[in-house]
Amino acid sequence: MGQGRIVVILLSMIIGFSVLVHIFTTAIAPPEVDQTVMTFSLSRPRAPSEARKLENPIPFSKEMVERGKEIYHGKGNCYVCHGAAGKGDGEGGVLLAPKPTNLSDPNFHLLRRDGEMFWTIKHGVEGTGMFSYAPRMITEEEAWIVIHYVRTLKDEG
Ligand code: HEC
Repeated sequence: MGQGRIVVILLSMIIGFSVLVHIFTTAIAPPEVDQTVMTFSLSRPRAPSEARKLENPIPFSKEMVERGKEIYHGKGNCYVCHGAAGKGDGEGGVLLAPKPTNLSDPNFHLLRRDGEMFWTIKHGVEGTGMFSYAPRMITEEEAWIVIHYVRTLKDEG
């Protein structure tokens, strides 16, 4: 066997091995986790589908947005993790993985109904820093009210 053939065989073994390693590592990394920013994809619902049917019992109004703002920045402590403008950059969220949801992301508002947000505020999101906040820290009524404020955090354009 000439030296050239040995080199060719060795090279194909190396290439074959790296292809296998690549296939193996992408197969074990859960696809719904964006490894670069450690957030779970928004396309994965956090609440059961029945939650989509829950309607906000409190009509949206300027007054309720104001009250929601007080809850978000006050007794609800939402700003601690989600940040003052909802960008997910609050001090309490820096070390969390996955990161607190960016509540100003227009896609978030497109994908999530009020009922789903209510469900996550009430039950939390398992395996994340999003605990159950109602009725432990805020009442269920206040949860519906804070959702009106969260809607105003959406980035326009
Ligand atoms: C201790 C930090 C922390 C606090 C305080 C906190 N959150 Fe969260 N929240 C998170 C994290 C982390 C996630 C991301 C969970 C995920 O990716 O599923 C999240 C997710 C959410 C979501 C999105 C769930 C979805 O459907 O994708 C909403 C809505 C939300 N929080 C609202 C609130 C509100 C309102 C408050 C205040 C009452 C609050 N959060 C307080 C950490 C926090």
